[in-house]
Amino acid sequence: MNTKAYAAPSATAPLGPHAIARREPLPTDVEIDILFCGVCHSDLHIARNEWGGTTYPVVPGHEILGRVRRVGGSVRKFKVGDLAAVGCMVDSCRTCDHCRRDLEQFCQRGATFTYNAPDKHLGGMTYGGYSERVVCDEAFTLKVPSGLDPAGAAPLLCAGITSWSPLRKWGAGPGKRVGIVGLGGLGHMGVKFARALGAHTTLFTSSESKVADGQRLGAHEVVLSKDPAAMAAMAGSLDLIVDTVSADHPFDAYMATLRLDGVMAVVGVPPSPQQVHAFSLIMPRRILTGSLIGGIAETQEMLDFCGQRGITCDVERIRMDQINQAYERMLRSDVKYRFVIDMASLKG
Ligand SMILES: NC(=O)c1ccc[n+]([C@@H]2O[C@H](COP(=O)([O-])OP(=O)(O)OC[C@H]3O[C@@H](n4cnc5c(N)ncnc54)[C@H](OP(=O)(O)O)[C@@H]3O)[C@@H](O)[C@H]2O)c1
Ligand SMILES: [Zn+2]
Ligand SMILES: [Zn+2]
Repeated sequence: MNTKAYAAPSATAPLGPHAIARREPLPTDVEIDILFCGVCHSDLHIARNEWGGTTYPVVPGHEILGRVRRVGGSVRKFKVGDLAAVGCMVDSCRTCDHCRRDLEQFCQRGATFTYNAPDKHLGGMTYGGYSERVVCDEAFTLKVPSGLDPAGAAPLLCAGITSWSPLRKWGAGPGKRVGIVGLGGLGHMGVKFARALGAHTTLFTSSESKVADGQRLGAHEVVLSKDPAAMAAMAGSLDLIVDTVSADHPFDAYMATLRLDGVMAVVGVPPSPQQVHAFSLIMPRRILTGSLIGGIAETQEMLDFCGQRGITCDVERIRMDQINQAYERMLRSDVKYRFVIDMASLKG
């Protein structure tokens, strides 16, 4: 099926219109008319080949929300007209140890990511949500709780689950002191979730202009990371940090704010290897770890939590043809707090 999309033709060229093929729905497939697609910093990293391994043309987008257009003959979870969502993965082997533990993102045979991954059905590479439609197996398609604003819900599929998963894994909740580093797409959801889970929530930001927003979004306190005295005042106080920063930055400065057995979970991917002093780990005995999106069951759990609590992302809607300017603004940390593409602008 011929499908309108937006692609980056190379690491240095802007994104522009591009036609892609989508498969006809198989018996377990759901075909979705995309309403909104969030713009993740990973889209930019991959469009510009900042991690290596990008195959061009690449169609980014893994915060996909839309309406079911067709379903295959054995689909049970969805019917035509339902809201449905697709996140960062469209398939995995489903049989390995990690898949059986609902950790498909760590599939031992390699999860099929939503874009820039080998396409098992059509050959070539998978294409993401900067497009009018997507076809996905129902096992990797998420139910969208009713009552959530669809544009604000789309970025839950990556920004939401990526901040949710380490908070849950490391026990963010009442009696815990949690720090979120960076107030962008992931970070603003980290602040909302840490607060909603009942943790004392501290935001670290490098942007003075975001202090008031940090408090409005739920932070009990906001620390300007450029202020050495404010950073020193936090020493040894936190149980958990979720670090969402996309640029090079000093890990040691944040690890110093952790108490005994405190955990720093890295989710942001700075372009260069970051240094960590051994003392940051050994005094007093701290854990440095990472986290990758979340499994399908955990993503549904997060969406259902958002449905119950009325939580969505703070978004700025853009047209598809504004994507290149949006990338430039994202690089200046000038996003409040997620761009979401209104796909009607591509279809029209
Ligand atoms: N692990 C995973 O599964 C996963 C999933 C999705 C995305 N990611 C990665 O997570 C990172 C964040 O993604 P995002 O979409 O949330 O990006 P984003 O919206 O651009 O937010 C990144 C934030 O990092 C902070 N920042 C940027 N440059 C900085 C600098 N030089 N020093 C200190 N802070 C700086 C800014 O917050 P302040 O202005 O508040 O400082 C900025 O808003 C990206 O690297 C992305 O690839 C990882
Ligand atoms: Zn993402
Ligand atoms: Zn597997």
